[in-house]
Amino acid sequence: MPQSLVGVRKHELDTPVLCIDLDRMESNIRKMAGFCREHGVQWRPHEKCHKTPAIALKEIEAGAIGVTCAKVSEAEVMAAGGVRDILIANMIVGPRKLERVAALRRWADPIVACDHFAQVQPLAEVCRSHGVEVRMLIEVNVGLDRVGVSPGRDTLELAQAIDRLKGVKLAGIMGYEGHLLQIADPAEKAQKIRENMALLVGCKEQIAKSGIDCGIVSAGGTGSYQYTVKCPGVTEVQAGGGIFMDPFYRLKCQVQELDYALTVLATVVSRPTLERAVLDAGRKTMNPDVAMPVVVGHDDAEVKRLSAEHCELKLGPQSQNLKIGDQVELVVGYGDFTTVLHDEFYGFRGDRLEVIWPILGRGKLQ
Ligand SMILES: Cc1ncc(COP(=O)(O)O)c(C=O)c1O
Repeated sequence: MPQSLVGVRKHELDTPVLCIDLDRMESNIRKMAGFCREHGVQWRPHEKCHKTPAIALKEIEAGAIGVTCAKVSEAEVMAAGGVRDILIANMIVGPRKLERVAALRRWADPIVACDHFAQVQPLAEVCRSHGVEVRMLIEVNVGLDRVGVSPGRDTLELAQAIDRLKGVKLAGIMGYEGHLLQIADPAEKAQKIRENMALLVGCKEQIAKSGIDCGIVSAGGTGSYQYTVKCPGVTEVQAGGGIFMDPFYRLKCQVQELDYALTVLATVVSRPTLERAVLDAGRKTMNPDVAMPVVVGHDDAEVKRLSAEHCELKLGPQSQNLKIGDQVELVVGYGDFTTVLHDEFYGFRGDRLEVIWPILGRGKLQ
């Protein structure tokens, strides 16, 4: 889409388009950065929801220390866009990727996660051959049971093994409490997160006691960060998706204080019955797996079904005046899985298109 569209109003655009409400996103960024700052914790937002350096730079301008990402190729995109401090919160395996990490070290300062010596030793070797040193975080399994070394002796032994190697430097530990995001009772959620973080911080203290300097304790997502930042010993949080917010965070993780900023603008293309409207935005535009999209401004309209290119709305009496050609805006159910379906974000100030950002990290899966 040509940049010449900048300045037009929503109703003048072809649909579907992925829209950011810039005022809301900027307010969410300020709130997340401010909340971390107030509690003396650094903010290292996960970029998987936007994959866009221009947005990462806005986060950094608001106080983020850098970004978290999941892939070497995402880190390369972020570095090319001017981000220096980049946590790749994932295990990096394979000779070509390790070469890319070492090369990245020449123009950025990546940190790579690990949970086994078999990931660390080849990286250290490649880094030595390039004459660089790369920081590492040990990922500890705090209960999510995805990746991560067991807390206690296994974590300590891995720290000691990393400490003996040249080419890599242990910078700290991380753990993701993703299994606790959807606990409904706030007191129970706070308690469980505190216990998880105490486990993580305990690992760091054990490592420090053995004489190894290990500063970073990184954790937290949007569904937990308000609890995680309050846990003693946590030094940074990775919460990212909250800059867009979505019904997954609001309805399933009870995050209330951030505003929906990411929508899809669609058009009614068929009105088969009084109660049914069909939009031009299906699963190839909005991913409904984690949470269904929510219709904006039509309280009694609800998304019933998505097929590849169609979205079927069930209309109540208040919304039955929708007609073919009308635009309908939907809050995407879960930002991460929707962003990756699009080439660009359309950033609106009110109703006016202010910017089109290419989603440069889209398709960066290696
Ligand atoms: C390692 C890691 N950190 C943090 C997050 C939280 O990200 P967000 O705040 O975008 O939900 C995730 C989510 O999957 C994750 O895998």
